[in-house]
Amino acid sequence: MSLNLRALQADITSLKVDAIVNAANSSLLGGGGVDGAIHRAAGPGLLHECRLLGGCKTGDAKLTKGHQLPAKFIIHTVGPVWRGGQNGEPALLASCYRRSIEIAAESGVRTIAFPCISTGIYGYPIQLAAETAIRTVQEEAERSPGLVEITFCCFSTGDLKVYLSLLEAPVATPSLKLAS
Ligand code: AR6
Repeated sequence: MSLNLRALQADITSLKVDAIVNAANSSLLGGGGVDGAIHRAAGPGLLHECRLLGGCKTGDAKLTKGHQLPAKFIIHTVGPVWRGGQNGEPALLASCYRRSIEIAAESGVRTIAFPCISTGIYGYPIQLAAETAIRTVQEEAERSPGLVEITFCCFSTGDLKVYLSLLEAPVATPSLKLAS
Protein backbone atom coordinates (compact mmCIF):
# COMPACT_ATOMS: atom_id res chain seq x y z
CA MET A 1 0.00 0.00 0.00
CA SER A 2 1.33 3.48 -0.79
CA LEU A 3 2.07 5.80 2.09
CA ASN A 4 0.98 9.41 2.05
CA LEU A 5 3.62 11.55 3.74
CA ARG A 6 2.54 15.16 4.18
CA ALA A 7 3.34 18.34 6.11
CA LEU A 8 0.88 21.01 7.14
CA GLN A 9 0.60 23.91 9.54
CA ALA A 10 -1.98 23.34 12.28
CA ASP A 11 -2.74 22.96 15.95
CA ILE A 12 -2.24 19.21 16.34
CA THR A 13 -5.14 18.96 18.79
CA SER A 14 -7.56 19.82 15.97
CA LEU A 15 -6.50 17.00 13.62
CA LYS A 16 -8.94 14.21 12.82
CA VAL A 17 -6.45 11.37 12.61
CA ASP A 18 -6.34 8.01 14.38
CA ALA A 19 -3.41 9.07 16.59
CA ILE A 20 -1.52 12.21 17.43
CA VAL A 21 1.92 12.16 18.99
CA ASN A 22 2.73 14.25 22.04
CA ALA A 23 6.21 15.70 22.68
CA ALA A 24 6.10 14.99 26.41
CA ASN A 25 8.63 14.86 29.25
CA SER A 26 9.61 11.73 31.15
CA SER A 27 7.01 12.29 33.89
CA LEU A 28 4.16 12.14 31.32
CA LEU A 29 2.27 14.44 33.65
CA GLY A 30 1.98 17.44 31.34
CA GLY A 31 4.03 20.54 30.67
CA GLY A 32 4.20 23.49 28.27
CA GLY A 33 4.26 23.64 24.47
CA VAL A 34 2.38 21.00 22.55
CA ASP A 35 2.16 18.84 25.70
CA GLY A 36 0.22 21.55 27.51
CA ALA A 37 -2.05 22.11 24.52
CA ILE A 38 -2.83 18.39 24.26
CA HIS A 39 -3.63 18.06 27.96
CA ARG A 40 -5.88 21.13 27.86
CA ALA A 41 -7.77 19.91 24.80
CA ALA A 42 -8.04 16.26 25.91
CA GLY A 43 -9.35 17.14 29.36
CA PRO A 44 -8.52 15.86 32.86
CA GLY A 45 -9.13 12.20 31.98
CA LEU A 46 -5.81 12.23 30.12
CA LEU A 47 -3.83 13.15 33.24
CA HIS A 48 -5.57 10.39 35.19
CA GLU A 49 -4.61 7.85 32.54
CA CYS A 50 -1.03 9.18 32.34
CA ARG A 51 -0.59 8.81 36.10
CA LEU A 52 -0.95 5.05 35.66
CA LEU A 53 1.84 4.78 33.08
CA GLY A 54 4.83 5.23 35.38
CA GLY A 55 6.60 7.77 33.17
CA CYS A 56 8.53 7.17 29.97
CA LYS A 57 12.22 7.07 29.08
CA THR A 58 13.76 9.43 26.53
CA GLY A 59 13.39 7.86 23.08
CA ASP A 60 10.51 5.64 24.14
CA ALA A 61 6.73 6.11 23.73
CA LYS A 62 3.49 5.14 25.48
CA LEU A 63 -0.13 5.06 24.32
CA THR A 64 -3.27 6.55 25.85
CA LYS A 65 -6.76 7.15 24.63
CA GLY A 66 -7.56 10.47 22.99
CA HIS A 67 -10.20 11.44 25.56
CA GLN A 68 -11.88 14.67 24.34
CA LEU A 69 -9.71 14.99 21.22
CA PRO A 70 -10.91 14.08 17.72
CA ALA A 71 -7.96 11.63 17.61
CA LYS A 72 -8.67 8.16 19.00
CA PHE A 73 -5.22 7.75 20.55
CA ILE A 74 -2.36 9.88 21.86
CA ILE A 75 1.15 8.47 21.68
CA HIS A 76 3.36 10.20 24.23
CA THR A 77 7.04 10.23 23.40
CA VAL A 78 9.97 11.90 25.13
CA GLY A 79 12.47 13.61 22.86
CA PRO A 80 16.06 14.41 23.77
CA VAL A 81 17.16 17.82 25.05
CA TRP A 82 19.59 19.28 22.49
CA ARG A 83 23.08 19.50 24.03
CA GLY A 84 25.10 20.23 20.90
CA GLY A 85 24.41 17.03 18.97
CA GLN A 86 27.29 14.84 20.27
CA ASN A 87 25.33 13.29 23.12
CA GLY A 88 23.21 10.75 21.29
CA GLU A 89 20.52 13.24 20.31
CA PRO A 90 19.99 11.99 16.70
CA ALA A 91 19.60 8.34 17.77
CA LEU A 92 17.23 9.28 20.58
CA LEU A 93 15.12 11.47 18.31
CA ALA A 94 14.96 8.71 15.68
CA SER A 95 13.92 6.30 18.41
CA CYS A 96 10.96 8.58 19.29
CA TYR A 97 9.63 8.37 15.73
CA ARG A 98 10.35 4.63 15.45
CA ARG A 99 8.73 3.66 18.76
CA SER A 100 5.71 5.88 18.08
CA ILE A 101 5.09 4.15 14.75
CA GLU A 102 5.61 0.70 16.27
CA ILE A 103 3.07 1.41 19.02
CA ALA A 104 0.66 2.96 16.53
CA ALA A 105 0.86 -0.09 14.27
CA GLU A 106 0.19 -2.43 17.22
CA SER A 107 -3.07 -0.53 17.82
CA GLY A 108 -4.23 -0.63 14.21
CA VAL A 109 -3.60 3.07 13.59
CA ARG A 110 -3.86 4.01 9.92
CA THR A 111 -3.29 7.78 10.16
CA ILE A 112 -0.87 9.49 12.55
CA ALA A 113 0.32 13.08 13.08
CA PHE A 114 3.63 14.12 14.64
CA PRO A 115 4.58 17.51 16.06
CA CYS A 116 8.20 18.71 15.60
CA ILE A 117 9.47 16.69 18.57
CA SER A 118 12.26 18.31 20.67
CA THR A 119 12.44 21.47 18.53
CA GLY A 120 10.67 23.78 20.99
CA ILE A 121 11.60 23.91 24.67
CA TYR A 122 14.19 21.11 24.13
CA GLY A 123 16.09 23.22 21.56
CA TYR A 124 16.77 20.72 18.73
CA PRO A 125 17.57 22.56 15.46
CA ILE A 126 14.56 22.21 13.14
CA GLN A 127 16.48 21.33 9.96
CA LEU A 128 18.39 18.48 11.62
CA ALA A 129 15.30 17.27 13.45
CA ALA A 130 13.18 17.26 10.29
CA GLU A 131 15.82 15.27 8.36
CA THR A 132 15.88 12.62 11.08
CA ALA A 133 12.08 12.60 11.36
CA ILE A 134 11.46 12.07 7.63
CA ARG A 135 14.20 9.46 7.20
CA THR A 136 13.05 7.48 10.23
CA VAL A 137 9.34 7.42 9.41
CA GLN A 138 10.11 6.34 5.84
CA GLU A 139 12.17 3.42 7.12
CA GLU A 140 9.76 2.43 9.86
CA ALA A 141 6.60 2.73 7.78
CA GLU A 142 7.91 0.01 5.46
CA ARG A 143 7.59 -2.38 8.42
CA SER A 144 4.04 -1.15 9.19
CA PRO A 145 1.94 -1.76 6.07
CA GLY A 146 -1.31 -0.81 7.84
CA LEU A 147 -0.18 2.79 8.11
CA VAL A 148 -1.53 4.86 5.21
CA GLU A 149 -0.84 8.48 6.18
CA ILE A 150 1.81 10.25 8.24
CA THR A 151 1.39 13.97 8.88
CA PHE A 152 4.16 16.28 10.07
CA CYS A 153 2.16 18.90 11.93
CA CYS A 154 4.12 22.15 12.02
CA PHE A 155 3.11 24.99 14.30
CA SER A 156 5.10 27.73 12.58
CA THR A 157 5.42 28.78 8.94
CA GLY A 158 9.20 28.43 9.19
CA ASP A 159 8.97 24.82 10.34
CA LEU A 160 6.51 24.04 7.55
CA LYS A 161 8.91 25.48 4.95
CA VAL A 162 11.69 23.19 6.20
CA TYR A 163 9.46 20.12 5.92
CA LEU A 164 8.08 21.04 2.52
CA SER A 165 11.52 21.58 1.05
CA LEU A 166 12.73 18.23 2.41
CA LEU A 167 9.62 16.38 1.23
CA GLU A 168 9.91 17.88 -2.23
CA ALA A 169 13.58 16.97 -2.53
CA PRO A 170 14.15 13.88 -4.70
CA VAL A 171 15.22 11.61 -1.85
CA ALA A 172 12.03 9.66 -1.35
CA THR A 173 11.66 6.07 -2.45
CA PRO A 174 9.29 5.55 -5.43
CA SER A 175 6.67 3.79 -3.27
CA LEU A 176 6.01 7.01 -1.38
CA LYS A 177 3.44 9.50 -2.58
CA LEU A 178 4.38 12.93 -1.30
CA ALA A 179 1.73 15.52 -0.64
CA SER A 180 1.54 18.84 1.13
N1 AR6 B 1 0.21 21.91 17.80
C1 AR6 B 1 1.29 21.54 17.09
N2 AR6 B 1 2.56 21.88 17.44
C2 AR6 B 1 2.71 22.65 18.55
C3 AR6 B 1 1.63 23.06 19.35
C4 AR6 B 1 0.32 22.66 18.94
N3 AR6 B 1 -0.77 23.01 19.63
N4 AR6 B 1 2.11 23.81 20.38
C5 AR6 B 1 3.45 23.87 20.22
N5 AR6 B 1 3.82 23.17 19.11
P1 AR6 B 1 7.60 21.73 22.53
P2 AR6 B 1 9.82 19.84 23.02
C6 AR6 B 1 5.15 22.94 18.54
O1 AR6 B 1 8.31 22.79 23.29
O2 AR6 B 1 10.78 20.76 22.40
C7 AR6 B 1 6.94 20.46 27.29
O3 AR6 B 1 6.90 21.26 28.44
C8 AR6 B 1 6.27 23.88 18.91
O4 AR6 B 1 6.16 25.08 18.16
O5 AR6 B 1 6.15 21.54 22.76
O6 AR6 B 1 9.86 18.38 22.64
C9 AR6 B 1 7.06 18.98 27.62
O7 AR6 B 1 6.36 18.64 28.79
C10 AR6 B 1 7.46 23.05 18.48
O8 AR6 B 1 7.64 23.14 17.06
O9 AR6 B 1 8.27 20.26 22.80
C11 AR6 B 1 8.54 18.82 27.79
O10 AR6 B 1 8.96 19.22 29.08
C12 AR6 B 1 7.04 21.62 18.79
O11 AR6 B 1 5.62 21.69 19.00
C13 AR6 B 1 9.11 19.76 26.77
O12 AR6 B 1 8.12 20.76 26.57
C14 AR6 B 1 7.70 21.01 20.00
O13 AR6 B 1 7.89 22.00 21.00
C15 AR6 B 1 9.35 19.08 25.45
O14 AR6 B 1 10.00 19.96 24.58
